[in-house]
Amino acid sequence: MMLELRGVHAHYGPIHALRGVDMAVQVGEVVTLIGANGAGKSTLMMSLFGLPRASAGHIIFDGEDITGLPAHAIARRGIALVPEGRRIYPRMTVLENLQMGAALADPLNFEVDLQRMCALFPILGERRHQRGGTLSGGEQQMLAIARALMARPKLLLLDEPSLGLAPLYIRKIFQTLRELNRDHGMTILLVEQNAHHALRVAHRAYVLQHGSIVLAGTGRELLASAEVRAAYLEGGQVR
Ligand SMILES: Nc1ncnc2c1ncn2[C@@H]1O[C@H](COP(=O)(O)OP(=O)(O)O)[C@@H](O)[C@H]1O
Ligand SMILES: [Mg+2]
Repeated sequence: MMLELRGVHAHYGPIHALRGVDMAVQVGEVVTLIGANGAGKSTLMMSLFGLPRASAGHIIFDGEDITGLPAHAIARRGIALVPEGRRIYPRMTVLENLQMGAALADPLNFEVDLQRMCALFPILGERRHQRGGTLSGGEQQMLAIARALMARPKLLLLDEPSLGLAPLYIRKIFQTLRELNRDHGMTILLVEQNAHHALRVAHRAYVLQHGSIVLAGTGRELLASAEVRAAYLEGGQVR
C-alpha cells in the first residue's frame, strides 16, 4: 500500500471539512477523488501535508505514519503536489520553476530530469527562458506537473489539473497522466470536478460529499453508476 487514510478528520476553526475519510492508493494505481465544489477535495490533498493537520485519524505513507510530520518532511518522503490553480512562480523562468521543483532532489539528476521533462512537454524546452507568468493556462499546468515531477516523487497528487483549460490541453494533460502511469509506473492521486476524464483514466475512484466518502469503485463502475452520472456527469458539475 502506498497511501492509506484511516478515519481522517480535519477542521478549519469551526468548519468540519473532513469527516472520517477512509481511502487507499496502491503502488502503481491511478486513483481519482471526485466531488462537487466545496466537498473537501483540496482539504484532503493538503491534509496529507499536514495543512490543515488531521484532527483525528491516521495517514500512512509507504508503511510509515506521517500524520504528525511537518510538510517538508512529508515532501522528502516522496509526495509531490500539483496544487489547485497551478501556483507556478510567475516571475521566474520556466527553467527556474523546474529548479525549484528539484530543490529536494539529488542535484546529480537535474540535467537528465530536465531532459525528460522537455521530452514529456516539448513546449517547456522551447520556452525555458520565458517567465512562467507569460505562459498560457495549459502551458502553466504542464509546468506545474513538470515541476512536481522534478522531485522524483513516489506519489504524484494533482488537484483539479483540468480546471479552466481548453479541451486540447485537457486531453494532453490526461494523456500525459496515463503515460506516466503506464510507462513509468507513477502512482497518481487525482482530484477532479471533471469526473468524465478522471474516471476514464483512473483504476479506482472515490466520491467525496460534505467531507465523507459516499461511494467507491473502479473508474468503470463509477462511470456507469446512475448516482454518479446524475450528480457529476449529467448534472451541473461537468465542465
Ligand atoms: N483555508 C480555509 N479556511 C476556512 N475554510 C476553508 C478553507 N479552505 C477550505 N475551506 C472550507 O472547507 C470546505 C472544503 O473546501 P475544499 O477542500 O476547498 O473543497 P473542494 O476542493 O472540494 O472544492 C468548504 O466548506 C470550504 O469553504
Ligand atoms: Mg478544491
